[in-house]
Amino acid sequence: MALPKDSLNTAYNVTASFVESIPKKERKKYGQFFTSRKTAEFMASLFTINFLKPELRLLDAGAGTGLLTAALVERLRDCGYEGDIVAVCYENDVKVLPTLAENLENLKKTCGIKYEIRIDNYLTSQNFIRADFYKKEAEQFDMIIGNPPYLKIAKDAPEALAMSEVCYGAPNLYFLFWAMGINNLKSGEEMVYIIPRSWTSGAYFERFRKYLFSHCVITNIHIFGSRDKVFDGESVLQETMIIKVKKTRTKPQFIEMSSSETSDFADIKYYQVDYNTIVAPNQFVFLVTSQEEAEILSRVNSLTNTLESDDLRMRTGIIVDFRTREVLRDTGEDGSYPLFYSQHIRNGRVSWPVGREAEYIVTDRIGYLQENTDYLFVKRFTSKEEKRRLQCGIYLKADHSQYKYISTQNKINYIKCDTPEVAYGLYVLLNSTLYDSYYRILNGSTQVNSTEINLMPVPSKEAIRQMGLELIGQELTEQNCDKIVNKWIR
Ligand SMILES: C[S@@+](CC[C@H](N)C(=O)[O-])C[C@H]1O[C@@H](n2cnc3c(N)ncnc32)[C@H](O)[C@@H]1O
Repeated sequence: MALPKDSLNTAYNVTASFVESIPKKERKKYGQFFTSRKTAEFMASLFTINFLKPELRLLDAGAGTGLLTAALVERLRDCGYEGDIVAVCYENDVKVLPTLAENLENLKKTCGIKYEIRIDNYLTSQNFIRADFYKKEAEQFDMIIGNPPYLKIAKDAPEALAMSEVCYGAPNLYFLFWAMGINNLKSGEEMVYIIPRSWTSGAYFERFRKYLFSHCVITNIHIFGSRDKVFDGESVLQETMIIKVKKTRTKPQFIEMSSSETSDFADIKYYQVDYNTIVAPNQFVFLVTSQEEAEILSRVNSLTNTLESDDLRMRTGIIVDFRTREVLRDTGEDGSYPLFYSQHIRNGRVSWPVGREAEYIVTDRIGYLQENTDYLFVKRFTSKEEKRRLQCGIYLKADHSQYKYISTQNKINYIKCDTPEVAYGLYVLLNSTLYDSYYRILNGSTQVNSTEINLMPVPSKEAIRQMGLELIGQELTEQNCDKIVNKWIR
């Protein structure tokens, strides 16, 4: 037998010739991006090997040229596993099949594996969940490795209809592959996948997460810092991660985490994070990149209220200025009211007017106006270069008490507070380093999404009021907010 290392080398050489022979546009149609060598080896290294099993059945769905199978087989043989290895590879792009066959044949010769290539659609060729219903067991595997296609499909595509239990709207093939993989995994066994990060939060993936966590626990997560260096020579504009799940309901105490800037893993950092910090009770998954971030999460997640439960819901400003030109004015007149934009949020307060255009609104349409009371205003959009994601300003009714109503443009969010103390207290929270960092972990984008803010854990309304009382009379700096927050949230 040749050395196993030779077979992975060969697999990479053969793949390189295939990649050169097919235009990228062609491969994109199938969601075809090949895993880099280091990434494949890293993925294979995550599996626990059960040396007592006389046979291991491996599944690689969407196998491409078979690189992941080659990496896993090589790892098994390198570690001294001497039992039978049966690799099942699904692939539906006929152009890649000769390369896949060549690589698997080579693995048969060098590592003594048996293999089966299934030229079929992995998702529609078998029953999902309903397998239980028909009393026909889904085919079961000991180890599943995969780099699924990243392709959005229509909500009535055959794959989506076959797996409607986990779909909501138009799904992406990657999480359908992942869900089907869980269906094909033996109880107690492990599956390693490389996937985008988008499934970790939001309503769109809720059904999938429910399915995932009703069958599996997460044991390992690797996060890549850079977007486009993970796939060999390919630029994939997706933030990517590697995950290992185990088919069991018994949660480990910790998740083994790692992160690296790119797929050469040269700067890899390892850290352990409490399971419940990563997988929140609402089944959102927090991808923390360091121990410090883990501490931030566990501090905030120890609180049990939310802005919603405190009756302090954040909402989005009501005026879309380019659609309401006819009621906007540059200067005040009889019956006009103040209209606030993000430019009015300055140094922790709301300064109005500042001499910009359309700072006044003249209307009696109640849908265009809101009560003049105490508020916290928060910018909805910030730029990547800005230091803080959460930028807020306190608005006090007392500053403009001659107006019965005010109005807000839709590029700010607001929270109706009704007392200055609560407005100051919310400012303490949202202007603190703790909450700015928490929000960044929750949401990588520069937009402040009120639905997510409303679900963030916060202190009780009374505690927020007390925090506000402590800030009144002090400068509205981040340091002063941090001092108060550190006292109240440990
Ligand atoms: C992202 S590529 C990964 C290839 C390989 N596993 C690797 O890591 O280098 C996904 C592969 O899935 C295949 N594929 C796409 N849809 C499929 C389906 N419904 N059934 C089986 N294979 C599929 C594509 O042709 C492509 O080769």
